[in-house]
Parts: sequence; C-alpha cells; structure tokens
Amino acid sequence: MELKERVFSGMQPTGSLHLGNYLGAMVQWIEMQKTHECIYCVVDLHAITVWQDPKELRDAIRQVTAAYIASGLDPKTSILFNQSQVAAHAELAWVFNCVARLGWLNRMTQFKEKAGKDRENASVGLYAYPNLMAADILAYRATHVPVGEDQKQHLELARDIAQKFNNDFRAEIEAKGYADGLFFPQPEPVITGPATRVMSLRDGTKKMSKSDPSDLSRINLTDDADTIARKVQKAKTDPEPLPSETAGLAGRPEADNLVGIYAALAGKTKAGVLAEFGGQQFSAFKKSFAEVAVGRLGPIGEEVRRLTADPAEIDRVLADGSARARAIAAPIMDEVKDIVGLIRS
Ligand code: TYM
Repeated sequence: MELKERVFSGMQPTGSLHLGNYLGAMVQWIEMQKTHECIYCVVDLHAITVWQDPKELRDAIRQVTAAYIASGLDPKTSILFNQSQVAAHAELAWVFNCVARLGWLNRMTQFKEKAGKDRENASVGLYAYPNLMAADILAYRATHVPVGEDQKQHLELARDIAQKFNNDFRAEIEAKGYADGLFFPQPEPVITGPATRVMSLRDGTKKMSKSDPSDLSRINLTDDADTIARKVQKAKTDPEPLPSETAGLAGRPEADNLVGIYAALAGKTKAGVLAEFGGQQFSAFKKSFAEVAVGRLGPIGEEVRRLTADPAEIDRVLADGSARARAIAAPIMDEVKDIVGLIRS
C-alpha cells in the first residue's frame, strides 16, 4: 500500500492568532492547499493542558476557526475542524502515551518553558502534550506538517513515535499487508513560511507568543489599524539607523526582527528592504511598516469580525469538517486497535 501525501497542522485556541502564527505557519498552509489534501485543526484538547475559562475557550475556538477562513483557508477544499470532535485524537494519544518513553518527553524544551519553576504543579496533560500532537498527525497518516520553527522538536518526537510503533508491532503490521512494516509515515516538518521565527515587538530575543502578558509584544490578526500603528510605534528598536546590508543586522535583534517581518509582509527579501531603508532612522521605516501591516492584516481582521458575528455558521463549518476528518481517522484508528491487539466491535 502506498502512502499518499497528506498535510496536517493545527493551532491552539488560547487567544487570538498573531503575526507569528500567520507568517510562521498560516501562509504556508494556504499555499499547500493548492497542491495537497490538507487537514487543519483547531487543537482545543491541547489548549486545556493549561487552565482555560470554558466560555472564553468556546469563543476562542470559533475565533480561530474564523481566522483560518478569513486568512484564506477554504473549508470546502481543506478540512477545517476542532480536535475534540474527532475521538481518534484522544484514543491514539493514549496508545502513544504507552509507546513514547519518559526520557523522550523529559527532553522537550517547550514543557520546561511552560511549566517553569513550578513543575510539580503542571498538568499531566501539559507533559504528555507532544504525544497528543503526534496522534493528531498520525491519526491521518499525514506526511507533511507545515509549522513555525518552535515546533521542530515536537515533530522529531512524532517521527520517533511513528518509528517505534512501526518497529514494536512490525509482525502485525506486515501481516496486514503493509510493506516493510511501514504503517505510520515519518511526518516531514515543513518549516518554510516567510518568517519561521517571529520575535516579540518588545524584546527581539523572545518569541512572539499568545501567552506574553504584554499585548504590545504582538500584532494580532484582529487588531484594527490604530492598534497596529500604536504597537509598531511602540516597538522596541535601538538608537542606530537601519543598516544598508543584512550583515549589519547581526547583534541587533529588534532591528533584525522588524526588517524580517516587513520583508515577509511585503513579499520582499531583507536585503531588498534594507536597500530601500538603509541609513534611515526607524521613524520613517515604522511608518511604512504600519502601512504594510495594516494593508495585509486589516481585511483579515474585518472578515474575522464578520464571521464571528454568526457563531452558528462557524459551528456548522466545524461539524462538517469534523465529519470529514472522522471518516479518514476512524478506519486508521480501527487498524491501530487491530495491530496493538485490542478487540473492537
Ligand atoms: P501554536 O498554537 O503555538 O502555534 C501555531 C503555529 O504558529 C507557529 N508559531 C510561530 N511561527 C513563527 N514565529 C512565532 N513567533 C510563532 N508562534 C507560533 C507555530 O510554530 C505553529 O506552527 N503544538 C502546536 C499545535 C499543534 C500542532 C499539532 C501543530 C497541535 N497539534 C499537529 C502541527 C501538527 C502549537 O502549540 O502551535
């Protein structure tokens, strides 16, 4: 049996999406719709690994779904759904909890960052989070996973889990007719968005993130023109003018980040941006930056607001996507049960 190329990726509904999500992943997701069968998930089960207010979570799931559509994902071509509606994710995650080793999870840097000093008080779900992520991908036997750079380690773990499962159950897998014991593919990370690591506007050494307490650190897809202009205005810079060549960005994390974002938004290279603004002060550059950002994000924000005004319609999109996702994942999960030795009806 040959493995078909299939794309899977997801985002957490823990607040509104920001420029990092958009440039690091979403732009690539949209591109891949043209060439691949794509499954894009709102990973609500991942969101509850840290406390979420139930009402805010419901709103966030709908808002992220709206942002997917507003950014250019087509719910007719691609499958758009929320994770908790497809039982295979949680079921396969349990099997993977029994395949992955404690030592593997102990190496995950994101858990260390998120759990912080109070590790004993982190949820078990937060620790096992990467196993659920592997299940998300492999429940569809997906082969390609477009993400930002911060997800690289989790994807390496997903590959290790796929391989260990294939090895552990090789005899059963081959008995089912899979050549070379290849039941799960090794999912490939696709880290090729226009900016795979967007940094905070307040600190060029920190990743732009939904969980940063300062809203000034990020540009949200739903920010209006005034808010974007204000955040750009307040973005941290250094006292030097912009360099004329990219080598001059070394050791200047804030300048490097802003030039990188500008280039990604305007569809230019960093060198091209510096050819235009090299030698100038940040004030002129920031003015143009805000215009480019508003031009690109303004229509997305407006469309999100329009779509979220009709939550029932969003729920219909999610129900339809979930049914289509289930139709792919359920037979794969049935096979997993056979392979592992579980009896199913
Ligand atoms: P999440 O929700 O943190 O982020 C969603 C996507 O946005 C990318 N991203 C960034 N890219 C560049 N610069 C940034 N500052 C930045 N911040 C976020 C992320 O790399 C990601 O691609 N665990 C995942 C969600 C997930 C998933 C999956 C992804 C669950 N299951 C299966 C792929 C496949 C996460 O928390 O992403």
